[in-house]
Amino acid sequence: MESHFDSHVEQDIEDEFQKSLKEMISSLLKGNNWGLPDHLYHYQGFWLTPTFLQGVMLAQQQFEAQPTDIILCSAPRTGTAWLKSLTFATITRTSYDDSTTPLLFKTPHDVVPFMELDHAHFSANRHPLLATHAPYSFLPTSIIDSGCKIIYICRDPKDTFVSMYHICASWYGPYWDHVLRYWKASLEHPNKFMFLKYEKMNEDTVLYLKKLAEFMGCPFSSEEAQKRMPEKIVKMCSFKNISNLEIENKIYFRKGKVGDWKNDLTPEMSTQLDQITQQKLSGSGLSFN
Ligand code: A3P
Repeated sequence: MESHFDSHVEQDIEDEFQKSLKEMISSLLKGNNWGLPDHLYHYQGFWLTPTFLQGVMLAQQQFEAQPTDIILCSAPRTGTAWLKSLTFATITRTSYDDSTTPLLFKTPHDVVPFMELDHAHFSANRHPLLATHAPYSFLPTSIIDSGCKIIYICRDPKDTFVSMYHICASWYGPYWDHVLRYWKASLEHPNKFMFLKYEKMNEDTVLYLKKLAEFMGCPFSSEEAQKRMPEKIVKMCSFKNISNLEIENKIYFRKGKVGDWKNDLTPEMSTQLDQITQQKLSGSGLSFN
């Protein structure tokens, strides 16, 4: 049983940790966050908010991945919420259907929390699905070393840029470095990773949902396929369906369109972004065409 003394010691360690983190963060290069209250800080090659930095460092220290965990990783505005709802609906399909799923009254971010924001989910008997925007090099080592699986979603840099621009932030960037590091890790450990592109998922969501289910270790049975279960999940998690629900956080739903950058970027901006993408991804085998 935990004693009063133990909990005091734990609190002291926690306070000390937070204090040293704050000191470390205040020594970092500081950047503008396009009008949002939190500044961005440059740490190990990425621009991050202090809330994220504190959260991810706590996760590095305390999060113990289980072999059954499935970690959804992504840079912001690349389809995280969509991936959360698809994987959650798939994993919980024997417990809920489209009239009882928590996705009807909770946001995808409530049903699959972010590791760096919600530390209550560090406990060993948590739900196996957890998400993070952390760049690959920031993941707790237990995620890399354990048998848990990682699903990464990325998106055309131009649509990602436009989507980010609409919420006025540039967190976790440079975007290309975020994607590239996960891409390389997925090539090195193909059994551990599933690497997805928003555009491909849009082309044939049912196909990708079936692949996701297999990867997560819960493939659809022929009986489920006959009952059109994958199609029902895809419909339930579709942009049209989810964005029409009476749940908060509508900020996550803009247009959900592939190629919408054409309406926002000037030809010069588009060319410039293409050039950076080409330069950054050159020789990696990854492309967005
Ligand atoms: P747009 O800004 O182009 O509309 P994230 O969840 O990582 O922040 O990504 C946000 C992007 O995913 C937004 O793109 C949003 O509209 C889109 N999105 C959210 N839910 C979706 C869904 N169910 N299907 C397809 N796209 C979705």
